[in-house]
Amino acid sequence: MTKNRFFPWRPEYSIDIPLIDAQHQILIGYIDELYASVEAKKQKEHTIEVVKKLKDYTDFHFGLEEKYFAQYGYVEEASHKAEHVLFVEKIVEFQNIIERNLPATFQILLFLKDWFSNHIMKNDRKYALVLKDKIV
Ligand SMILES: [Fe+2]
Ligand SMILES: [Fe+2]
Repeated sequence: MTKNRFFPWRPEYSIDIPLIDAQHQILIGYIDELYASVEAKKQKEHTIEVVKKLKDYTDFHFGLEEKYFAQYGYVEEASHKAEHVLFVEKIVEFQNIIERNLPATFQILLFLKDWFSNHIMKNDRKYALVLKDKIV
């Protein structure tokens, strides 16, 4: 993994499930790449491509977590899923801004970074405590 400047991985992000940590690292990498694309004022097409990678991988990752919640009857399934919706909505908001040629806002990038780091350290860590032995 190349070194992230905007959103570096930190050891406290680990929830002790290697499969999930690896996916979180990929998502953090995409958020960092998105920041780099906007900062470098890359072609709109490039930024659209990166935000699409982030959106697709987010759908995949949240889908997997939610599959585990359903499979193992995780008690906080509903509230956790509602959290996921907020993040996806922000990505879509960002996509719309880029597609409409509006100036890309760093506020949304900061939101994505803060939301994601808080989510993994609070919500994902919570399910990891319960489902750790089931997810390998
Ligand atoms: Fe997660
Ligand atoms: Fe999650």
